[in-house]
Amino acid sequence: MSDPVRIAVTGAAGQIGYALLFRIASGAMLGNDQDIELKLLEISPAMDALRGVVMEVEDCAFPLVKKVITTDQPEVAFEGVDIAMLVGSRPRGPGMERNDLLAANGAIFTAQGKALNDQAAKHVKVLVVGNPANTNCLIAQHNAPDLDPANFTAMTKLDHNRAVAQLSHKVQAAVGDIEGLAIWGNHSSTMFPDLLGATINSKPALDAVSQAWYEEDYIPSIQQRGAAIIQARGSSSAASAANAAVEHVREWVSGSERVTSMGVFSKGEYDTTDGLIFSYPVTVSNGVHKVVENRELNAFAQAKIKATEAELIEERDTVAHLL
Ligand code: NAD
Ligand code: LMR
Repeated sequence: MSDPVRIAVTGAAGQIGYALLFRIASGAMLGNDQDIELKLLEISPAMDALRGVVMEVEDCAFPLVKKVITTDQPEVAFEGVDIAMLVGSRPRGPGMERNDLLAANGAIFTAQGKALNDQAAKHVKVLVVGNPANTNCLIAQHNAPDLDPANFTAMTKLDHNRAVAQLSHKVQAAVGDIEGLAIWGNHSSTMFPDLLGATINSKPALDAVSQAWYEEDYIPSIQQRGAAIIQARGSSSAASAANAAVEHVREWVSGSERVTSMGVFSKGEYDTTDGLIFSYPVTVSNGVHKVVENRELNAFAQAKIKATEAELIEERDTVAHLL
């Protein structure tokens, strides 16, 4: 056993937190031979609820969990952490867009960015789940000038998984037979689920479906999946979001030769504006994510990417006072 990995989870008493902690603690994220310390952050009124969640974690007698710390102070939660999963923030309700949450949630990420800057390990891997995830991540990144911008990522793995699952269902192929699919841009209703570079059993995915289905059914369905879940469940996705967060960090730490999707700090790849947190097709090796190069983009794809980029620029400009 190596030294425990220190993992901060914010919003740990919330819905996603409740689904996430037990997966992390069981070894699903970092493996069955990696000890962990959990550092759980909540707001003061939720500390009692968090105490109850921690009792449940204790009652699982997870062998990998060496220590659990609870706090309402970001500086305490992030001290020395190797991984920070920033979940805590308000979810949207029916009829809202995710960026309607910017006013309520943006400020959370200034304070947490500063605390990460001052307290976290310099190699910390930060995943932002709280919405609007890309722009919250941008806020945290800007408030952590001493950390490498590449350490900051936003979650589009849930959208990626939705896109794989819906394609698999449509063409009756196994999930594992689908490769190369990617989500571009914002975790919002402008995201672009891209099948141009995707294959099913090594054959082009777009040969297996009609362009009309792709444009009129598939893309809107992925873009609106979060809203559809809120409509049906009365609250936003939680277990599937926690699963995606586990997979995002697992791939970042352990590597992924297969193309996956992550919101990462843009260096202007594919003619996008640099300095945004933009979801691209990425692969991961030795703990480093890398945007896939030379991916074919037709005029349709380029227009979709420009649209989601424009929304991210607008969000960035809205929170200029927090950057
Ligand atoms: P929730 O309301 O059940 O839980 C959020 C928790 O965060 C609450 O316990 C709250 O007390 C806590 N919190 C609020 N402010 C905090 C702060 N400053 N520091 C620490 N904790 C704080 O919500 P949820 O369902 O767990 O969703 C959390 C967030 O994740 C929402 O913004 C939601 O929209 C987002 N989300 C993102 C994705 C994605 O794919 N990126 C998917 C699902 C949900
Ligand atoms: C999701 O995609 O399920 C989350 O971002 C929650 C939401 O607001 O849609």
